[in-house]
Amino acid sequence: MATFTVPVNISEAELKLLQTLVYQECGMHFDERRVHFLQDRLQRRLKACSLDSFYSYYRLLTSRDGKGELSALLENLTVNETSFFRNKPQLELFQKVILEEILHRKQSRRDWTLRCWSAGCSTGQEPYTMAMQIADALAYYYLRNPLPFEMPSPKPLIPPPWKVEILASDISYAALRSAQEASYSDLQMEPVDYTYRLRYFDKSGERYAAKKGIKELVHFDFHNLKTEFLPQRNDVIFCRNVMIYFDEAEQKRLIDKFYRCLNPEGYLFVGHAESLFGLTDKFRMIHQNNGTAYQRIEATI
Ligand SMILES: C[S@@+](CC[C@H](N)C(=O)[O-])C[C@H]1O[C@@H](n2cnc3c(N)ncnc32)[C@H](O)[C@@H]1O
Repeated sequence: MATFTVPVNISEAELKLLQTLVYQECGMHFDERRVHFLQDRLQRRLKACSLDSFYSYYRLLTSRDGKGELSALLENLTVNETSFFRNKPQLELFQKVILEEILHRKQSRRDWTLRCWSAGCSTGQEPYTMAMQIADALAYYYLRNPLPFEMPSPKPLIPPPWKVEILASDISYAALRSAQEASYSDLQMEPVDYTYRLRYFDKSGERYAAKKGIKELVHFDFHNLKTEFLPQRNDVIFCRNVMIYFDEAEQKRLIDKFYRCLNPEGYLFVGHAESLFGLTDKFRMIHQNNGTAYQRIEATI
Protein backbone atom coordinates (compact mmCIF):
# COMPACT_ATOMS: atom_id res chain seq x y z
CA MET A 1 0.00 0.00 0.00
CA ALA A 2 1.48 3.35 -1.05
CA THR A 3 1.65 6.34 1.30
CA PHE A 4 1.89 9.79 -0.27
CA THR A 5 3.20 12.80 1.53
CA VAL A 6 3.25 15.22 -1.41
CA PRO A 7 0.00 16.11 -3.17
CA VAL A 8 -0.64 14.19 -6.37
CA ASN A 9 -0.94 16.41 -9.44
CA ILE A 10 -4.38 16.73 -10.92
CA SER A 11 -4.57 17.40 -14.66
CA GLU A 12 -7.18 19.71 -16.13
CA ALA A 13 -8.88 16.77 -17.79
CA GLU A 14 -9.06 14.82 -14.50
CA LEU A 15 -10.42 17.85 -12.67
CA LYS A 16 -13.09 18.35 -15.36
CA LEU A 17 -14.12 14.67 -15.14
CA LEU A 18 -14.48 14.84 -11.37
CA GLN A 19 -16.23 18.23 -11.42
CA THR A 20 -18.76 16.87 -13.91
CA LEU A 21 -19.32 13.71 -11.90
CA VAL A 22 -19.97 15.69 -8.69
CA TYR A 23 -22.35 18.00 -10.56
CA GLN A 24 -24.26 15.09 -12.05
CA GLU A 25 -24.51 13.31 -8.71
CA CYS A 26 -25.60 16.16 -6.42
CA GLY A 27 -25.86 19.43 -8.32
CA MET A 28 -22.92 21.07 -6.56
CA HIS A 29 -21.03 23.35 -8.89
CA PHE A 30 -17.43 24.38 -8.18
CA ASP A 31 -16.58 27.55 -10.05
CA GLU A 32 -13.17 29.29 -9.98
CA ARG A 33 -13.84 30.67 -6.49
CA ARG A 34 -14.48 27.22 -5.00
CA VAL A 35 -12.32 24.94 -7.11
CA HIS A 36 -9.47 24.99 -4.54
CA PHE A 37 -11.85 23.58 -1.96
CA LEU A 38 -12.79 20.79 -4.37
CA GLN A 39 -9.12 20.04 -5.11
CA ASP A 40 -8.27 19.94 -1.42
CA ARG A 41 -11.08 17.49 -0.65
CA LEU A 42 -10.17 15.33 -3.65
CA GLN A 43 -6.57 15.13 -2.41
CA ARG A 44 -7.80 13.97 1.00
CA ARG A 45 -10.03 11.27 -0.48
CA LEU A 46 -7.27 10.09 -2.83
CA LYS A 47 -4.99 9.67 0.18
CA ALA A 48 -7.72 7.92 2.19
CA CYS A 49 -8.17 5.45 -0.69
CA SER A 50 -4.38 5.00 -1.12
CA LEU A 51 -4.58 5.70 -4.84
CA ASP A 52 -1.85 7.35 -6.88
CA SER A 53 -3.79 9.12 -9.64
CA PHE A 54 -7.03 11.04 -9.95
CA TYR A 55 -7.98 9.03 -12.98
CA SER A 56 -7.88 5.82 -10.88
CA TYR A 57 -9.97 7.65 -8.30
CA TYR A 58 -12.50 8.62 -10.99
CA ARG A 59 -12.58 4.96 -12.15
CA LEU A 60 -13.24 3.87 -8.57
CA LEU A 61 -16.07 6.40 -8.14
CA THR A 62 -17.78 5.27 -11.34
CA SER A 63 -17.32 1.53 -10.67
CA ARG A 64 -19.94 -0.75 -9.21
CA ASP A 65 -17.97 -0.93 -5.92
CA GLY A 66 -17.50 2.82 -5.75
CA LYS A 67 -20.87 3.84 -4.28
CA GLY A 68 -19.52 4.05 -0.72
CA GLU A 69 -16.59 6.21 -1.77
CA LEU A 70 -18.89 8.45 -3.83
CA SER A 71 -21.00 9.08 -0.71
CA ALA A 72 -17.84 9.77 1.30
CA LEU A 73 -16.67 12.27 -1.31
CA LEU A 74 -20.04 14.09 -1.47
CA GLU A 75 -20.15 14.16 2.32
CA ASN A 76 -16.70 15.82 2.32
CA LEU A 77 -17.84 18.45 -0.16
CA THR A 78 -20.90 19.66 1.71
CA VAL A 79 -20.83 22.80 3.83
CA ASN A 80 -22.91 22.08 6.92
CA GLU A 81 -22.90 25.53 8.50
CA THR A 82 -26.24 26.20 10.19
CA SER A 83 -27.77 27.64 13.36
CA PHE A 84 -30.98 27.84 15.36
CA PHE A 85 -33.25 30.77 14.46
CA ARG A 86 -31.16 31.61 11.40
CA ASN A 87 -32.49 34.71 9.60
CA LYS A 88 -34.88 36.00 12.26
CA PRO A 89 -36.88 38.42 10.07
CA GLN A 90 -37.73 35.55 7.72
CA LEU A 91 -38.72 33.29 10.63
CA GLU A 92 -40.97 36.04 12.00
CA LEU A 93 -42.68 36.15 8.64
CA PHE A 94 -43.03 32.36 8.71
CA GLN A 95 -44.50 32.24 12.20
CA LYS A 96 -46.64 35.37 12.35
CA VAL A 97 -47.93 35.71 8.80
CA ILE A 98 -47.56 32.50 6.86
CA LEU A 99 -48.41 29.94 9.51
CA GLU A 100 -51.34 32.12 10.54
CA GLU A 101 -52.62 32.15 6.94
CA ILE A 102 -52.14 28.38 6.54
CA LEU A 103 -53.85 27.52 9.85
CA HIS A 104 -56.78 29.76 9.03
CA ARG A 105 -57.16 28.41 5.49
CA LYS A 106 -56.82 24.77 6.55
CA GLN A 107 -59.14 25.02 9.53
CA SER A 108 -61.86 26.52 7.34
CA ARG A 109 -61.54 23.44 5.08
CA ARG A 110 -61.38 21.07 8.05
CA ASP A 111 -58.00 19.91 6.89
CA TRP A 112 -56.00 19.36 10.06
CA THR A 113 -52.70 18.34 8.55
CA LEU A 114 -49.62 20.50 8.32
CA ARG A 115 -46.57 19.19 6.50
CA CYS A 116 -43.30 21.09 6.32
CA TRP A 117 -39.99 20.02 4.81
CA SER A 118 -36.52 21.24 5.68
CA ALA A 119 -34.57 20.31 2.54
CA GLY A 120 -30.85 20.41 3.33
CA CYS A 121 -31.37 20.35 7.11
CA SER A 122 -27.72 19.83 8.08
CA THR A 123 -27.39 19.05 11.82
CA GLY A 124 -31.05 19.76 12.61
CA GLN A 125 -31.15 23.32 13.96
CA GLU A 126 -33.45 24.44 11.14
CA PRO A 127 -36.16 21.75 11.47
CA TYR A 128 -36.13 21.97 15.29
CA THR A 129 -36.53 25.75 15.00
CA MET A 130 -39.51 25.12 12.70
CA ALA A 131 -40.96 22.64 15.20
CA MET A 132 -40.72 25.14 18.08
CA GLN A 133 -42.23 27.88 15.96
CA ILE A 134 -45.11 25.71 14.78
CA ALA A 135 -45.92 24.46 18.29
CA ASP A 136 -46.02 28.06 19.55
CA ALA A 137 -47.99 29.34 16.55
CA LEU A 138 -50.66 26.67 17.08
CA ALA A 139 -50.88 27.42 20.82
CA TYR A 140 -51.23 31.14 20.14
CA TYR A 141 -53.74 30.60 17.34
CA TYR A 142 -56.02 28.58 19.65
CA LEU A 143 -55.63 31.05 22.48
CA ARG A 144 -57.41 33.53 20.19
CA ASN A 145 -59.65 31.11 18.27
CA PRO A 146 -60.68 28.30 20.64
CA LEU A 147 -60.91 24.91 18.96
CA PRO A 148 -64.40 23.47 18.44
CA PHE A 149 -63.19 20.39 20.39
CA GLU A 150 -62.42 19.65 24.02
CA MET A 151 -58.70 20.21 24.69
CA PRO A 152 -57.14 17.27 26.60
CA SER A 153 -55.31 18.03 29.82
CA PRO A 154 -52.35 18.48 30.12
CA LYS A 155 -52.31 20.40 26.85
CA PRO A 156 -50.40 18.47 24.19
CA LEU A 157 -47.72 20.23 22.15
CA ILE A 158 -49.88 19.91 19.05
CA PRO A 159 -53.59 20.40 19.78
CA PRO A 160 -55.75 17.61 18.34
CA PRO A 161 -57.05 17.03 15.73
CA TRP A 162 -54.01 18.71 14.14
CA LYS A 163 -51.31 16.45 12.78
CA VAL A 164 -47.98 18.16 12.21
CA GLU A 165 -45.19 16.48 10.33
CA ILE A 166 -41.79 18.04 9.74
CA LEU A 167 -39.62 16.16 7.33
CA ALA A 168 -35.93 17.01 7.43
CA SER A 169 -33.55 15.69 4.81
CA ASP A 170 -29.94 15.98 3.77
CA ILE A 171 -27.35 14.33 1.56
CA SER A 172 -24.89 13.98 4.46
CA TYR A 173 -25.39 10.90 6.64
CA ALA A 174 -23.08 12.36 9.30
CA ALA A 175 -25.22 15.52 9.50
CA LEU A 176 -28.41 13.44 9.67
CA ARG A 177 -27.03 11.27 12.49
CA SER A 178 -26.12 14.34 14.50
CA ALA A 179 -29.52 15.94 13.77
CA GLN A 180 -31.30 12.82 14.98
CA GLU A 181 -29.30 12.89 18.22
CA ALA A 182 -30.50 16.47 18.82
CA SER A 183 -27.79 17.28 21.36
CA TYR A 184 -26.28 20.76 21.15
CA SER A 185 -23.39 22.63 22.77
CA ASP A 186 -23.64 25.98 24.59
CA LEU A 187 -22.21 27.69 21.53
CA GLN A 188 -24.78 26.10 19.20
CA MET A 189 -27.56 27.09 21.64
CA GLU A 190 -26.53 30.77 21.70
CA PRO A 191 -29.37 31.94 19.38
CA VAL A 192 -31.99 30.06 21.44
CA ASP A 193 -33.45 32.34 24.09
CA TYR A 194 -34.11 31.04 27.59
CA THR A 195 -37.88 30.66 27.23
CA TYR A 196 -37.36 28.29 24.32
CA ARG A 197 -34.60 26.44 26.19
CA LEU A 198 -36.88 25.96 29.19
CA ARG A 199 -39.77 24.63 27.18
CA TYR A 200 -38.06 22.53 24.55
CA PHE A 201 -34.69 21.35 25.90
CA ASP A 202 -33.26 19.37 28.81
CA LYS A 203 -29.77 20.07 30.07
CA SER A 204 -27.72 16.92 30.01
CA GLY A 205 -24.20 17.49 31.33
CA GLU A 206 -22.58 20.17 29.19
CA ARG A 207 -25.13 19.82 26.42
CA TYR A 208 -28.74 20.65 25.65
CA ALA A 209 -30.94 17.80 24.43
CA ALA A 210 -34.17 18.48 22.55
CA LYS A 211 -37.18 17.17 24.49
CA LYS A 212 -39.10 14.13 23.28
CA GLY A 213 -42.16 16.15 22.21
CA ILE A 214 -40.24 18.38 19.81
CA LYS A 215 -38.06 15.51 18.57
CA GLU A 216 -41.13 13.46 17.72
CA LEU A 217 -42.38 16.15 15.36
CA VAL A 218 -39.31 15.85 13.11
CA HIS A 219 -38.57 12.87 10.85
CA PHE A 220 -35.16 12.66 9.24
CA ASP A 221 -34.43 11.02 5.93
CA PHE A 222 -31.76 10.95 3.24
CA HIS A 223 -32.76 12.82 0.07
CA ASN A 224 -30.48 14.01 -2.69
CA LEU A 225 -32.10 17.14 -4.16
CA LYS A 226 -30.61 16.24 -7.53
CA THR A 227 -33.02 13.30 -7.88
CA GLU A 228 -36.60 13.45 -9.16
CA PHE A 229 -38.15 11.48 -6.30
CA LEU A 230 -38.63 14.05 -3.60
CA PRO A 231 -41.21 14.34 -0.79
CA GLN A 232 -44.60 15.54 -2.06
CA ARG A 233 -47.65 17.32 -0.55
CA ASN A 234 -45.82 19.90 1.54
CA ASP A 235 -47.44 23.09 2.79
CA VAL A 236 -44.06 24.69 3.38
CA ILE A 237 -40.56 23.98 2.13
CA PHE A 238 -37.46 25.49 3.66
CA CYS A 239 -34.45 25.12 1.38
CA ARG A 240 -32.08 27.71 2.72
CA ASN A 241 -28.40 28.09 1.91
CA VAL A 242 -28.34 25.00 -0.30
CA MET A 243 -29.07 26.34 -3.81
CA ILE A 244 -26.19 28.75 -3.38
CA TYR A 245 -23.86 25.84 -4.21
CA PHE A 246 -25.73 25.00 -7.43
CA ASP A 247 -25.43 26.67 -10.84
CA GLU A 248 -28.33 28.49 -12.46
CA ALA A 249 -29.54 25.53 -14.53
CA GLU A 250 -29.66 23.29 -11.47
CA GLN A 251 -31.36 25.99 -9.39
CA LYS A 252 -34.09 26.28 -12.03
CA ARG A 253 -34.62 22.51 -12.09
CA LEU A 254 -34.81 22.42 -8.29
CA ILE A 255 -37.31 25.28 -8.09
CA ASP A 256 -39.53 23.44 -10.61
CA LYS A 257 -39.32 20.32 -8.47
CA PHE A 258 -40.20 22.30 -5.35
CA TYR A 259 -43.24 23.71 -7.17
CA ARG A 260 -44.45 20.14 -7.74
CA CYS A 261 -43.58 19.11 -4.15
CA LEU A 262 -45.79 21.85 -2.69
CA ASN A 263 -49.52 21.75 -2.08
CA PRO A 264 -51.53 24.44 -3.88
CA GLU A 265 -50.81 27.85 -2.31
CA GLY A 266 -47.78 26.37 -0.51
CA TYR A 267 -44.71 28.39 0.45
CA LEU A 268 -41.00 28.15 -0.31
CA PHE A 269 -38.31 29.78 1.83
CA VAL A 270 -34.78 30.21 0.50
CA GLY A 271 -31.62 31.61 2.12
CA HIS A 272 -30.78 35.23 2.74
CA ALA A 273 -28.30 35.32 -0.16
CA GLU A 274 -30.63 33.38 -2.48
CA SER A 275 -33.58 34.50 -4.56
CA LEU A 276 -36.03 33.14 -7.14
CA PHE A 277 -35.68 36.35 -9.14
CA GLY A 278 -35.15 35.56 -12.84
CA LEU A 279 -35.38 31.82 -12.21
CA THR A 280 -39.14 31.17 -12.28
CA ASP A 281 -42.52 32.80 -12.83
CA LYS A 282 -44.38 30.15 -10.83
CA PHE A 283 -44.01 31.85 -7.45
CA ARG A 284 -44.92 35.24 -6.08
CA MET A 285 -42.67 36.99 -3.61
CA ILE A 286 -43.87 38.05 -0.16
CA HIS A 287 -41.59 40.55 1.52
CA GLN A 288 -42.36 42.01 4.95
CA ASN A 289 -40.10 43.56 7.59
CA ASN A 290 -36.96 42.23 5.87
CA GLY A 291 -38.33 38.69 5.68
CA THR A 292 -38.92 37.00 2.33
CA ALA A 293 -40.95 33.97 1.27
CA TYR A 294 -42.36 32.72 -2.03
CA GLN A 295 -45.87 31.40 -2.60
CA ARG A 296 -46.89 28.99 -5.34
CA ILE A 297 -49.02 30.71 -7.98
CA GLU A 298 -52.04 28.65 -9.02
CA ALA A 299 -53.20 28.57 -12.62
CA THR A 300 -56.53 30.41 -13.03
CA ILE A 301 -59.15 28.60 -15.08
C1 LIG B 1 -25.09 25.37 4.51
S1 LIG B 1 -26.10 24.00 4.98
C2 LIG B 1 -27.67 24.80 5.25
C3 LIG B 1 -28.42 24.23 6.43
C4 LIG B 1 -29.75 24.91 6.73
N1 LIG B 1 -30.67 24.77 5.65
C5 LIG B 1 -29.55 26.37 7.07
O1 LIG B 1 -29.84 27.23 6.26
O2 LIG B 1 -29.07 26.65 8.16
C6 LIG B 1 -26.36 23.19 3.39
C7 LIG B 1 -26.83 21.75 3.53
O3 LIG B 1 -27.28 21.30 2.25
C8 LIG B 1 -26.89 19.94 2.09
N2 LIG B 1 -26.86 19.62 0.65
C9 LIG B 1 -25.98 20.03 -0.29
N3 LIG B 1 -26.27 19.50 -1.49
C10 LIG B 1 -27.36 18.71 -1.29
C11 LIG B 1 -28.11 17.87 -2.15
N4 LIG B 1 -27.82 17.72 -3.44
N5 LIG B 1 -29.17 17.21 -1.62
C12 LIG B 1 -29.48 17.35 -0.31
N6 LIG B 1 -28.79 18.12 0.55
C13 LIG B 1 -27.74 18.78 0.07
C14 LIG B 1 -25.54 19.87 2.77
O4 LIG B 1 -25.19 18.56 3.16
C15 LIG B 1 -25.72 20.81 3.97
O5 LIG B 1 -26.08 20.12 5.13
